[in-house]
Amino acid sequence: MKPLNSVISACPPSGIRRFFDIAAQMDDVISLGVGEPDFVTPWRVREAGIWALEHGATTYTSNAGLLRLRELICAELAGRYGAEYVPDGECVITAGVSEGLDLTLRVLLEPGDEVIVPEPCYVAYQPCVSFAGGRPVPVPTYAEDGFRLRTEVIEAAVTGQTKAILIGSPANPTGAVQTRDDLAALVELAVRHDLYLISDEIYDRLTYTGAHTCLSALPGARERTVLLGGFSKAHAMTGWRVGYLCAPTAIADLALRMHQYTMLCAPHVSQLAAVEALTSAGDDVDEMVADYDRRRRVFVKGLREIGLDCPEPGGAFYAFPSIRSSGLDSETFAERLLHRHRVAVVPGSVFGKPGEGHIRCSYATALPLLEEALDRIGRFLQECST
Ligand SMILES: Cc1ncc(COP(=O)(O)O)c(C=O)c1O
Repeated sequence: MKPLNSVISACPPSGIRRFFDIAAQMDDVISLGVGEPDFVTPWRVREAGIWALEHGATTYTSNAGLLRLRELICAELAGRYGAEYVPDGECVITAGVSEGLDLTLRVLLEPGDEVIVPEPCYVAYQPCVSFAGGRPVPVPTYAEDGFRLRTEVIEAAVTGQTKAILIGSPANPTGAVQTRDDLAALVELAVRHDLYLISDEIYDRLTYTGAHTCLSALPGARERTVLLGGFSKAHAMTGWRVGYLCAPTAIADLALRMHQYTMLCAPHVSQLAAVEALTSAGDDVDEMVADYDRRRRVFVKGLREIGLDCPEPGGAFYAFPSIRSSGLDSETFAERLLHRHRVAVVPGSVFGKPGEGHIRCSYATALPLLEEALDRIGRFLQECST
C-alpha cells in the first residue's frame, strides 16, 4: 500500500487522552484530567435544544450560521470588550473553536509558513499548524513570572517565514491570563513585523482576578487578528459543538469558503441552544464562574499547603503546579499518582517543553472530590520524599 499522509502519521496521539483512557478503566479514580466542565448545560439551554428538535430544526442553516446567533455574538463582543464585528461578513459560526482554529490556519498559511506558539500551550495548537502545512515554532513562557508572554522572547523567534502568532488567554494548561500591557506589546510586535495574531479566547468568561482583555479590541490589532470563541467552557456546552470565528472580511470570507465545503454549517439545534445561552443563561454562567473560583481558591491553597509551588491561575479551570520537589518527571509523577492513589492528572510535558516539571489539574470537579484529591496527592508526595 502507498504510505499515508506523513504529517499526520508523524503527529503523536494526544497525551491527555492516554491518561483519560487508562483512568476510565480503573475504579475510584478522581479525575482532574479532562478540560471539561463538570456542570451539565444550563437547563434553559437544554430546553431550547429540545424545543428546537421538537419543532424540526433538523436542517442545515446558512453556511455562516444563524444570523440571529451571529448578531448576538457580535453584540456581546462589542458590549463586553469593545470588539466590533459585522454579523454579516465578519463572523462565522463554527463547530467549536476547534474548527475555527483549523479554518484560520488553513486560510492564513502557505506551505512552510511559521507560526509562533508560546508554550506550555493547548495540545492541539502545534498539530493544527502542521496539518495546515505550516511549521510551529514553540517559544517558552516561564512559571516564575506566571507564564506571561515576554515579547523579547517572541521577537527573537521571528524570521522571514513567520506568518502568525497563536495565543490563548486565559490559557490551557496554565490558567495564565495575559495583562492588557503584555497583549498591547504583542500587538505592537505583530504590527512591526506584519504578522497575524490568532487569539483563542474560549475561556474569556472564566477569569477570576481581573477583567478579560479581548485582543482584537486593542489599538492596531483588529485588522490582523482572528478571534476565536465558543460555548464549550463557560456555558458547559462541550458536546454541542458550537463556536465562532470573527475576523476582518477578507479572512472571514475565506474561512467561510472552506467551512462551506468542509462542514456546511454548525449543528442547527446547537446554534439555537447557543442563541438561548446568550439571551438567558447569563446568571447560570455567573454562578458556574463563582463556583469555579471557590474551587480554585481551595485547590490552589491546598496544593501549596502540601508543598507544591503553584503559580496563581487567574482564569480557565486549571492549576499547573510544579512537581519538581517530588524528584520525578511529570510523566512518571502522573503515572504513579494514578496507579497508586487513583488521581488522574496530566503530565505537563504534553503541553510542550516548558511544561515539564509541572502537572495540569483541572478543578472543574466538585469541591469534596478536590479535597480528597489533595489528600491523596499529599500522601503520594510523602511517599516520594521517603
Ligand atoms: C484552549 C482551548 N481551545 C480550544 C478548545 C476546544 O474548544 P471547542 O470545544 O470549542 O472545540 C479547548 C478545549 O479544551 C481549549 O482548552
